[in-house]
Amino acid sequence: MIELVAGTTDTSAAARIMTTVRRWIVIEPEAIEHSRATIPMFRDWLALLDGDPVGAGSCSLNLGMEEDTAAFAVACVLDQVRGRGVGTALYGQLSTHARSLGKSELMTWGYEDDAGGVAFAERHGFVVVTRKPALRLVLDDCPRPTVDLPEDVVITTLAETPELVQGVWETASEAMPDIPYYTVPMSAGPLEEFAARSFAGPRFIPEATFVAVREGEVLGYAQLTWMSRAAGIADHAMLAVRRAWRGRGIAKALKARQIMWALDNGLTELRTGNDERNASARAVNANFAYTPLPDQVGYRGPLLASESRRSATGRSRVIPEHGRNEHPA
Ligand SMILES: CC(C)(COP(=O)(O)OP(=O)(O)OC[C@H]1O[C@@H](n2cnc3c(N)ncnc32)[C@H](O)[C@@H]1OP(=O)(O)O)[C@@H](O)C(=O)NCCC(=O)NCCS
Repeated sequence: MIELVAGTTDTSAAARIMTTVRRWIVIEPEAIEHSRATIPMFRDWLALLDGDPVGAGSCSLNLGMEEDTAAFAVACVLDQVRGRGVGTALYGQLSTHARSLGKSELMTWGYEDDAGGVAFAERHGFVVVTRKPALRLVLDDCPRPTVDLPEDVVITTLAETPELVQGVWETASEAMPDIPYYTVPMSAGPLEEFAARSFAGPRFIPEATFVAVREGEVLGYAQLTWMSRAAGIADHAMLAVRRAWRGRGIAKALKARQIMWALDNGLTELRTGNDERNASARAVNANFAYTPLPDQVGYRGPLLASESRRSATGRSRVIPEHGRNEHPA
């Protein structure tokens, strides 16, 4: 029997499953709670197989691309129970939520070396629309970089100068649409939402959110966020330089500053990844000793049709957040 339990029942199990399946992305329970609180229309489900948690999925508006015809979904099923209908049950539920948001497709992602994930995507008509070569920087023995800045440019942090958040948001608003995209360019959204999502919550590290400034004006910023504070792993969440200031080494200096911070604070590893079409971001990374991880592939595909859903999920049921009932999935 497959049961899909909505929401908050066992967030630790959902985080554990997602981390096991994703391998190179650590997802902590607090990060899922932050997503529930800040991502528009975010819903998540834990999948139980005969009572055991074995899968987890979520679906929301596509963050920063809310007007896209696709919702953003994640579905993870542990290797040892694949092929028993759990993924299809999750896919059905994520499709139902996407439909309720007025969306007609799903955007999702996986690693190219996850054979089950690739097969599932192909079988359901998903196509690869983006590819992101993922990278890691192991900090043990990592050379200490130097920070070279253009004249009059200094680097500070949001911990030291939180009032720079407005200029950081303006920079993000200018840079996000320049990130290679598939259908709809990314946008930072309104300042309050951007700040609540990016500069709050368990992953935010104000002292590792570096800002390049010249005479009080924000020229660029680079944000490290926690993937796992306990394991000392952080993620390069965003790197952005205002258009007028690109090509002068500011991004390289910001990244060098992040690596220095990570070395000084005993971190073990940094992770990153940029779309294969993002030549400038990849050129910045090439200055440092990153080594490759499997590529992340972005998929786009149809919602599961209601009739396929009924036959595929005949043995499953959905349990809403408050109490149990017997609605079939
Ligand atoms: C990526 C970005 C932050 C780089 O900022 P920047 O200040 O211009 O970067 P730098 O000047 O430090 O370094 C740019 C490097 O890219 C190279 N570069 C710049 N434009 C390039 C292009 N179109 N193709 C190839 N290389 C390019 C430069 O030669 C330089 O290489 P080098 O370090 O080997 O000398 C900036 O382009 C940006 O804000 N883009 C939009 C946001 C984004 O995509 N962020 C990354 C995803 S989170």
